[in-house]
Parts: sequence; C-alpha cells; structure tokens
Amino acid sequence: MIPRDTVELITETARIEDVVGDFVALKKRGVNMIGLCPFHNEKTPSFNVSPTRGIFKCFGCGKGGNSVNFIMEHEHVSYPDALRYLARKYNITIEEEQRSDEEMQQDTERESLYVVSTFAQKHFTHNLQETEEGRSIGLSYFRERGFSLPTIEKFQLGYAMDSYEDLLKTAEEKGYKLDLLAKCGLIKTREDGKSFDFFRGRVIFPIHNITGKVIAFGARTLKSDKKEPKYLNSPETEIYLKSNILYGISFAKRAIIASDNCYLVEGYTDVISMHQAGIENVVASSGTSLTTGQIRLIKRYTQNITILYDGDPAGIKASFRGIDMILEEGMNVKVLLFPNGEDPDSYARNHSTEEVHAFIRENTQDFILFKTKILLSDAQNDPVKKAALIRELVQSVALVPDAITRSVYVKECSKLFDIPEQTLINELNKFRRTKLSKEAGADLPIADPIEQQAEVQRENETLNELLPQEREIARILLNYGEREIDFEITIEDEEIGPDGAPKTHQEVLRTTVAEFTVHQLTSDGIRLENEDFAAIIEDYALALDAGLILTQQHFLNDPEGASQAAIDLVISPYILSTKWKEKHLIYTKTEDEKLSLMVRNAVYSFKLKKVMQMIMEIQEQLKGDLQDAIVDQLLEEQKSLFEVKKILSAELGRVIIR
Ligand code: UTP
Ligand code: MN
Repeated sequence: MIPRDTVELITETARIEDVVGDFVALKKRGVNMIGLCPFHNEKTPSFNVSPTRGIFKCFGCGKGGNSVNFIMEHEHVSYPDALRYLARKYNITIEEEQRSDEEMQQDTERESLYVVSTFAQKHFTHNLQETEEGRSIGLSYFRERGFSLPTIEKFQLGYAMDSYEDLLKTAEEKGYKLDLLAKCGLIKTREDGKSFDFFRGRVIFPIHNITGKVIAFGARTLKSDKKEPKYLNSPETEIYLKSNILYGISFAKRAIIASDNCYLVEGYTDVISMHQAGIENVVASSGTSLTTGQIRLIKRYTQNITILYDGDPAGIKASFRGIDMILEEGMNVKVLLFPNGEDPDSYARNHSTEEVHAFIRENTQDFILFKTKILLSDAQNDPVKKAALIRELVQSVALVPDAITRSVYVKECSKLFDIPEQTLINELNKFRRTKLSKEAGADLPIADPIEQQAEVQRENETLNELLPQEREIARILLNYGEREIDFEITIEDEEIGPDGAPKTHQEVLRTTVAEFTVHQLTSDGIRLENEDFAAIIEDYALALDAGLILTQQHFLNDPEGASQAAIDLVISPYILSTKWKEKHLIYTKTEDEKLSLMVRNAVYSFKLKKVMQMIMEIQEQLKGDLQDAIVDQLLEEQKSLFEVKKILSAELGRVIIR
C-alpha cells in the first residue's frame, strides 16, 4: 500500500503537461494544450490537456482523466503502478506499507527487467571506460569511427568483454538473478545447464525506450570474421517490443517536436553520427524493417517524416516500402538518398554540420518525384513499363487517407506525366475500392468519414434537444460552483400599486453559483434528462443540504477514474458555442458581472427550452380526440406555461440587453 499522504504528494507534484508530454507532442492552444491522441489513430488533434486543471481529455475517443489515469491507460498499468511511475519521475520516495504478494509479483516482473538492463548497461559502460581490454579495443573503435567522448557518454555506449562469463560473474556477485539475465537475452544456457554471456567481444549500443530507460542492446562485432554476424540484438521481452521501439527516440523527441520533422535512418551509427553533427531529430528502425507501430510512435510528435537511406538498391527498396506505410498513416513523407556508397553515418562523419544541413536541404525530394525518377530510369521509353509505373505511383497515392492531400498528389502526377487528372482519379478510385472492401470484408461505397461523423452529431442533436443546455448548466456548476454572484430578486410589497397588483421592489442577494443553480432547478422539480448531468446536479444538491459546496476536484480526483462527464465539462470545446453567450459577453464588462449573467442565462434558457418542450407536448396531445374536461385542463396548463415562458423570455431579454 502506498500511504495516503504520499499519494497526495505524487498527484500534486505530477504536472499533467509533463507526464503527457513524455508521450505526446503538445502545442499550446489558449490556456490548454492540444496534440494527437495516443489512444486512437487520428490526423487532426482532438487530445486536450489542461495544465491548470491537471487533466487530459480526448474529444475523439473520449478518454480522459488525470496524470495517474493517463499513465494507467497509456502504460497499461494498475493504479499503484502508475503512482510508482510518477513517483520515480519526480524523485518522490515511496515508503510502502505492507504490499500484497500479488502486487509484488506483477510489479517485479517488468520492473526487474528494467533493473537488470540498467545493470548490464552500467557494466558494459564500465568495461568500455575503465578496463584495459575495453579501452584498447572498444573505446578505440568508437574513437576511430569519429564518436566524441560526450557522444559516447550520451548514448551510454559500452563494451562486452571477449569472455564467456564476464557479465555472468559480475551479476552473480552483485546478486542479480540469472533467470532475469536470461530473459533479457544477456546470458544463454547450454544443454548441460551451464550459462554463458551472449554478447562477447562486441561494442554495445544500449536501446532506450521513450522515457530513456535502457530496455535492450545492439552489439557490433569487431572481428572481420565473416562467419560472425555483424550485429547481435537482444530478443523481444516484456519491456522491449521491437515493433514499437525506434532507436534514438528518447534523445530525438524534443528535436522532432521543435523541427516538426523526423529523419528516419537505418541504424545505430547513423543516429549517433547525425546527433554528433548537430541534427537530433533522428531515429532508426535498426535491424527490423519499419513497422506501423514505429510510424505511430513518430506520429505522436510530428506529421512529417523524411526517410534517409543509402542509395543502393536495398536502400531504395526499403524506402519504397516505408513510403507506402507512412502514407497509409496519413503522414507526409519525403525521401533523401545518399550517394552510392555513403550512408547518413559516413556522410555526417566526413562533412561539416553546415554541409550536412545543405545536403539535406538540397536533396530532399517529394516522394512522388522520387519514385517517378527511380521507376522512370527502369522504364526508359517502354510504354508498357511506363503505364505500370504510373499505376504503381497511383497505388501509393491511393493509400493517403486524406482526400485533399490525395487530390494534390494527383495533380502533381498529372502534370508530371501529362495525363488528365480524371484518368488518374479513376484509376485511384479502383485501388481505394479494393483496399476498402478488403479492409471491411465487403464491397463498400467510399464514404467521407468527416461527413459521416457530422451526420451522427446532427442526429444526436435533434434527438436530444436539451443536451446543450443541460451540459452548460453542469459545466457552470463544475467550473464556478463556489463563486459568489449577486442576484437580483423581485419582492412583492404589501402595498397595492395603481394597476391593482401588489407593488414590488428589487433586492440584491449574494449567493453562490451552486446554490442559485440548484435552487432554480429543484424548486421547480426539474430533473435533467441526461443521466450524467443529472447525477452531478444531485451531488451538488445533496452536498448543499449538508452545507457544503462541492469542488470540481471532488469529481476529478476519484482514484478509480474521474467521472467522464465531469472531465468533458472541465475542458470543454463547447464553451461559448451558442450565439447568446457570445452576445452577452460583448455587452458585459467585469468578470463578476459576466459570471452572474452567464449563470442566469444558462438556467433561464434551459428552463425556457424545457417549458417550450412542455408546450409542444401539450399541443401534440391536443391534436388527439379528447374529453372536454381534459382539453380544458391541458389548455389551462398551456396558459400557465405561456406565462412562465413570458417571464423567462423577459428575464433573458433583460439580461442580454443590459
Ligand atoms: P552497417 O552495415 O553500415 O553497420 O549497417 P556499421 O556498423 O555502420 O558498419 P560499417 O562500419 O559501415 O561497415 C548500418 C546499421 O544497420 C544496422 C545497425 O543499426 C547499423 O548501425 N544493422 C546492420 C543491424 O542492425 N544488423 C546488421 O546485421 C547490420
Ligand atoms: Mn555503416
């Protein structure tokens, strides 16, 4: 168990924009921040973070919560594990009370793999820096490759001794469990049960996850023996899922955000040399061929990828495959091929930073031009081959999910080959139809997803006419419930006026937003239709009976996950969505005045709409075949509703004109 006060300390210290920022590129948007949602695939950001409220909310997929919820959701960990994660991030020590065996079990597995990996990295680094063998073989190799000492330290490069038991013995001495080392692929076990080091006589490239923790290793041989594989890599483990990791991502993420572009290279050495040349927005798929998971990792930070490959046929082939996958994710892709015999590593090593920048600037190509040039040189003047080439290009364009981007590419192709756009579009649609029907398992018409979404929204709005008003009331309660406002009330005097009705006078009453709102609703016996909002009002009403005013923290800090409806309301894009609100804001001056107008407007326009709904219902009923008595009763009800309507309209009108 984590003690209560430690939990509080952690939740207070963890800054949501920091916690989320480790995984999502956030841009400022007013007081909030916005980015691409890590929980679903999207092209336009609908993922909101509110630093002042300490919460996140995605308006695309609906996920939302506080820092702890984010880590739980994103890292697939339990509530206590998310707290531990945050505690580590902010250097908060947890003195745990008794923990259950089960908790220990779950926790230790992953955690211990991190621990063992970090131990191994430290050991390899020690070998490289402090041992005779490591320095003379490993370090001198890195130095010859042109890596500076700061670079070697930054990437935590290391050396595995040319021994079968160097790591093994040290691990045993220090009390690390050998089965964990085996799980990480650091040691292997022979049939007779004897274990030995897996990496021997190799320089070591630690692989880090997105937060910078060591999770695996790449190891390059220093022998020219052709029988030895050049690189050995750690196997997949619970903490190293190859298809979701890019080498260098933890070092590159800030620069990727800053430059809004990511360079994709082949391997460890390319990443490191580029960094040393001052270009830090670089990651490598290293060893494996590019995966969708890796592309989505980049997509958290930028929409733009430039593929950097050496210009040999294998590099070109790899770039073609990569282009299509990136396009399919709805991202922009450019390509830069290095002259034959050079790769980003060698080029960065042999040129100044300025030259590398200039080379990239001058040689980066649009993927269409790039593919065209490459394929055209194959096709020469063969018309059949040329037709196949165009089809191949169109096929790539067909992968782009966004219709506007597609049409831009089509224009480009049309100019390039002097082929009418419509011909290309027809061809393209053929591909899209087969692609879509393959995905759906049936023949489907191509529908615009944005239009579909709008359709659903429109339907919801007509079905649930009161929803915007109810939402506004709940939003005001959550955001301003505790604030005090002046409220004018009309009081009837005993004296009778010249018109025969009692005289009235106005009095100003100071009350809280919560009291006013709840009183206005409950005194008329109105219950909101939306269950979530109704529940919020009820909570407030109950608390008010007990003399308390709830704060939004009450709804957000629920450890089992904050109320979704409450989160929606606290960072809400619906703020100021309706005309009347904009209108009254123009007419008002002070913050206080604005607030009381907003509150009254919200309550009265909700009531007004409710009353109109009731009138409509009555009119609907009146169309039927009814007994006279019932007709009279309905007409009577309708009359009093019209009166209420008049009062409310007047109240609203007065508020607006003022
Ligand atoms: P290279 O073959 O260029 O490796 O592969 P290198 O270490 O730079 O070797 P030299 O000095 O040029 O001969 C480039 C990248 O491809 C990955 C590595 O990440 C390497 O940095 N790679 C290569 C592997 O993962 N496995 C391999 O077997 C080969
Ligand atoms: Mn190389």
